[in-house]
Amino acid sequence: MAKRILHGEGMLTEAGRAEWESRNTRASALAASPYKKDFPLLSRNPDLAFLDSAATAQRPKAVLEAQKRFYEKMNANALRGLYRLSVDATEAINAARGHVARFIGLDERDDRRDIVFCRNTSEALNLVAHSLAPTVLGPGDEVCITVMEHHSNLIPWQQACRAAGATLVYLYPDGNGVIGEDEMRAKIGPRTKIVSAVHVSNVLGVANDVKLMAHIAHENGAVMVVDAAQSVPHFPVDVSDLGCDFLAFSGHKVFGPMGVGVLWGRHELLDAMPPFLTGGEMIESVTEQDATWAPVPEKFEAGTQDAAGIYALDAALTYVEEVGFDAMQAREQALVAQCMRRLSGLDFVRIIGPDDPAAHHGVVSFNVCGIHPHDVASILDMDNVAIRAGHHCAQPLLAHLGIDSCCRASFAFYNDSGDIDRLIEGLEHVWSMFHG
Ligand code: ALA
Repeated sequence: MAKRILHGEGMLTEAGRAEWESRNTRASALAASPYKKDFPLLSRNPDLAFLDSAATAQRPKAVLEAQKRFYEKMNANALRGLYRLSVDATEAINAARGHVARFIGLDERDDRRDIVFCRNTSEALNLVAHSLAPTVLGPGDEVCITVMEHHSNLIPWQQACRAAGATLVYLYPDGNGVIGEDEMRAKIGPRTKIVSAVHVSNVLGVANDVKLMAHIAHENGAVMVVDAAQSVPHFPVDVSDLGCDFLAFSGHKVFGPMGVGVLWGRHELLDAMPPFLTGGEMIESVTEQDATWAPVPEKFEAGTQDAAGIYALDAALTYVEEVGFDAMQAREQALVAQCMRRLSGLDFVRIIGPDDPAAHHGVVSFNVCGIHPHDVASILDMDNVAIRAGHHCAQPLLAHLGIDSCCRASFAFYNDSGDIDRLIEGLEHVWSMFHG
């Protein structure tokens, strides 16, 4: 197994160049994004190259207006009131629940009860680790995750294993960033009770074969959890097709508001799990010494929900459907290919991850030789280029790659080749500041 999956010299092979040139024939379509006008922050800042959508995406006007509309027209505490406003707020949440179910390949009416609204992916994964793990994990058991997890799908399992006396086992990628079937079969076995894997890595951009992982997990009687925070914004995700048992994602990465996340779980598993947070609206009845729980999903939704945010998430999903994943994917793949081609022309830049741009879902990580990523990002900011730099909340992955930190440019369909031009010019500026 290769220890490092850094791109060797930051230069293209002949085959890679031919592939990128052919993809680049579509580059003219990338010249000026027709979508930036939908995003107030981008249209008000035409000189900004926003290349940090993997951290949080920009929101279209339709989402901002939905949030405002909620507070202006239906603001009341959902689920509690019997008056019209509260009923409207409740209906808004229920409609959004149905829409989320449909968006991830489920039945809008029958499966909406299995959509739990949380604050974000981290909270959703913590919910599963806290509520499921104690019911299935014991001493000597194993939880299997990948080394490319974001900390939010790693620390909860460290804690759960520690509490149960179980072992945390890691899946490692090969030199192309692929976690193959042999690796899965070597690590997922009869002792495995839970497999939890990131669908798309927030550093490498590679998509893991979570469908195969779910199959192997189930062959061994384990539960399969998917962190879909970085996949749901880029391509259609269908939980029925993946065959997983839980899937989590965040609203703010899929052009929705911050503070709203989604957990989907198989009904029988959610039904059997104890609550994560307790308090208002998650009970059936309460006595002085005891309480019984409301059915799923309310059992997992203690306290006042961010109804406006949920309503705005509904609008974000509608916006994504209107643009269409076909259009989004075509643009993003062409942008990633163009970015990698341009970066490979800078002999002081090393690209991190697979050579094939198609394997990078919206993410291109790189380093500038001898210059700390924080310095790179700060100088780029002076040129109005926003990238993320650091460990990207994936320290075990970076240790596996043999680096402490890196730069990351991440793309959404609203980016264009002007953003890449600014990134390249900015990097030349960075290099010239250090090397004259
Ligand atoms: N998880 C987000 C990122 O990768 C914050 O940047």
